[in-house]
Amino acid sequence: MTTRIIGTGSFFPQMIVSNDDLSKVVDTNDEWIRSRTGIKERRISEGQDTSELAIEAAKEAIASANIDVKEIELIIVATSSADNVFPNTASLVQFGIEAENAVCYDLSAACSGFLFALNTAHAFIKSGIYKKALVIGSEVMSKTIDWKDRGTCVLFGDGAGAVVVAADEIGIEDMVMYSDGTKGNVLLCEDRKVGNFLTAAVKNEEVDSSYGFVKMEGQEVFRFAVKQVPQCISKVLEKSNTNIDDIKYFVLHQANIRILQSVAKRLNVDIEKFPTNLELYGNTSAASIPILLDEMNKKGMLKSGDKIVISGFGAGLSWGATLLTW
Ligand code: UT7
Repeated sequence: MTTRIIGTGSFFPQMIVSNDDLSKVVDTNDEWIRSRTGIKERRISEGQDTSELAIEAAKEAIASANIDVKEIELIIVATSSADNVFPNTASLVQFGIEAENAVCYDLSAACSGFLFALNTAHAFIKSGIYKKALVIGSEVMSKTIDWKDRGTCVLFGDGAGAVVVAADEIGIEDMVMYSDGTKGNVLLCEDRKVGNFLTAAVKNEEVDSSYGFVKMEGQEVFRFAVKQVPQCISKVLEKSNTNIDDIKYFVLHQANIRILQSVAKRLNVDIEKFPTNLELYGNTSAASIPILLDEMNKKGMLKSGDKIVISGFGAGLSWGATLLTW
C-alpha cells in the first residue's frame, strides 16, 4: 500500500503585479528580473490571508478528488506565512471546509514544506494510520517581504496549492529528504524577538516588538540549489532502481528559471521535462509545487501510470525529492 494523489486544486489573489509595477517602488527593471529569474509577474494579496487561500485551493482539490470531505483524516498545511502563531492554519482550513474528522497541523520547512508535508502524509498512510489526507502549500509571502529590498521583493508571490492523497496500490515510490541547519542564516525570516515588558524594565530598555523580513544571500542559495537538487533526484532514482529516462516530468519548486535550467543540464535531461509557471506567479515558496501540479493536472498533462519526480529546496537549508506514479 502506498499514497496516491487523487485530486488537486489551487487559488490565487486577484491582484497581478508586473515587473514594471515593481520598478515604481524599488530600483529595478523588467529586463533585470526576467533575465535573472524568469519572472514576469506575481499575485499579491490585498487582504486575504494564508488560510483563506488554502481553503479555496482545498475545496478545489476535494472536488477534483470527488470525495466526501468527512473522509479526510489529516490536514497538513505547509507554510512560512501562517495567519497566526496559533491556532495553526490547518485548523482554520478544517473549519473553513468542515472537515471535522481531520487532525490538523502546520509544517514549517519553507520552500521544501509541501514536499516534506506530502512525505509526512505518506508515512501515515503507508503505515495504515490514515487513509485520506489533505496536503496544502499556502503562502502570503508578501507580508514577510521587505518591500525596500530589491534583492528579495522581486522574487516572491502569493498563492496556494492543495492535493488530496489516499491509500492506493500505486503512488509514492520513494523519497529522500535532507536538512542542513548550519546554513540557516543564508535564507531566513525572523519571528518576534525574545523579550517583554518585565525583562526590559529590569534592564531599563525599550521592548523590541519589531518583526523580521526575508533576508537572503542569493548566490549562496543558488549554488546550494544547483548542487543539491540534481544529487537528491539522482539519489531517489537510484534508491528506487528507476531509470531517469522513465521520468515524464520533473516538478521542481519554482524559484528561478536559471535553477531549473541548471538542474536539467546537470541531470542531462531535456528542459522540456521541467514544466514551469514561475513567470506568472514568482516564487510562492511552499505553494509552488502543488500549484504547478494542479496546473499540469488541469491541462491533462498527467496520465495514470506516468512517473514524476517532485523536488523542493529552500530555507533550513532543506531539500529533497519524491518519486511517484500518477
Ligand atoms: O526558494 C528559494 C529562494 N531563493 C532562491 O531561489 C534564490 C536563488 N538566487 C537567485 O535566484 C539569484 O541569486 C538572484 C536572482 C536572487 C540574484 O541574481 P544574481 O545574479 O545572483 O545577482 P546578484 O545578487 O549577484 O546581484 C547582481 C547585481 C547587484 O548589483 P552590483 O553590486 O553588481 O552593482 C545587485 O545589487 O544586481 C543588483 N540587483 C538588482 N538590480 C536590479 C539585485 N537585485 C536587483 C533587482 N533589480 N531586483
